[in-house]
Amino acid sequence: MTKEKTNANAMWGGRFDEKPSDIMDLINVCIDVDVRLWRQDLRLSKAHAEMLARQEILTEGDVSTLIGGLSDIEKEFEDGTFPLRREYEDIHMNIEARLRELVGDVAGRLHTARSRNDQVATSFRMWVRDAIGELITDIDTLRATLAKLSAEHKSATMPGFTHLQAAQPITLGRHLDAYAQMLARDKSRLEDCQKRLNECPLGAAALAGTPFPIDRDFTAGKLGFDRPMPSTLDAVSARDFANEFLFACAQAGLHLSRLAEEIILWATPQFGFITLSDQWSTGSSIMPQKKNPDAAELVRGKTGRLTGNLVQMMTVMKGLPLAYNKDMQEDKEHVFDSFDTISLCLKAMDGMLSTAAFNTARMRSAALEGFTTATALADWLVMSLNMPFRDAHHVTGAIVKLAEGQGCRLDELSLADMQSVHADITEDVFRVLKI
Ligand code: ARG
Repeated sequence: MTKEKTNANAMWGGRFDEKPSDIMDLINVCIDVDVRLWRQDLRLSKAHAEMLARQEILTEGDVSTLIGGLSDIEKEFEDGTFPLRREYEDIHMNIEARLRELVGDVAGRLHTARSRNDQVATSFRMWVRDAIGELITDIDTLRATLAKLSAEHKSATMPGFTHLQAAQPITLGRHLDAYAQMLARDKSRLEDCQKRLNECPLGAAALAGTPFPIDRDFTAGKLGFDRPMPSTLDAVSARDFANEFLFACAQAGLHLSRLAEEIILWATPQFGFITLSDQWSTGSSIMPQKKNPDAAELVRGKTGRLTGNLVQMMTVMKGLPLAYNKDMQEDKEHVFDSFDTISLCLKAMDGMLSTAAFNTARMRSAALEGFTTATALADWLVMSLNMPFRDAHHVTGAIVKLAEGQGCRLDELSLADMQSVHADITEDVFRVLKI
């Protein structure tokens, strides 16, 4: 590792004689990750500059130069020509360095009355807020698909399961609707997180605020926040919004993984409830007959990442003293990953379901197996013969045993067979034994 006697960092190197070591550079630089904040950082800087002019902290002339330069940078990002440079560590310093190249020394005035600590906290909150908006669109798309399928199959009989054993006959529509309900809660969890995170850290500066006569209400309003965060220390060091977001993503992923598991089971020849389209299946390199539900398996598997990301972030934050600590630079990568992952899973699930064929005849015949109307029989005994439920349960058990012995379904037993278990049973019972 080389030690060069040059003042390496133009942003903070005033008191430094040496460059960071190569390994220091590797552990410190995060531009590859936080480049995704560019849009939010530019919007923030424009609002901040505008506020500095309004408060007469900077001149109108300087601020219009700064805002012009920031707009040019925006175009460079959009065209893919913005030069990302490791020597400027992160997105915030890359943008400021580029601004200096474009507009000259006045660029140095942009950082008046702010710190990277309130800058990163604010732009990260804005990013998560935008990400939630996109995820809600993905969730709504999948909910609409589930609602459509539910309506289409509202009379399609299938076995409902407990312990993965046939339990009672239900409809496919009702089964799918359960997932639509879970997704509605996933959406409301994200909305809730979005509501709570929508306070603006800007103005907290490094941690203690700033002596300049800034207008925090103006910047908060301009950036779409409900209000400035009341505590400057909390503003720069709170990351519970990221934890909440990660939990909401993990929980949505967990719901999708349950649906994925059912798709995987249902696609087996043994179940045969669903046939995935070729678009959403893969083949085996050795077994020509195979059609594998890989997308569903990956949705199920990616729940591991989503849960891991939540645990990672909570572990980073545990025990950190106030206020900002560099540990917190580890906050973004996993949030970005959870967003990418859950967004992909929601889209894949939507694609799989909207192109799948549900084999309702097979579901119906499966619903006839496994004595699934036994609970209906017990209820009939209670309602028609005024039997206590516990006794009805025993009588029904005996009738199931009888059918099992004869190798037939409940509705294939004769009335005489049933009366041999309980003499008061009448012909009317067949009404509930059929599905
Ligand atoms: N890249 C840093 C992060 O994401 C920005 C904040 C740096 N602040 C500081 N005091 N070094 O956390």
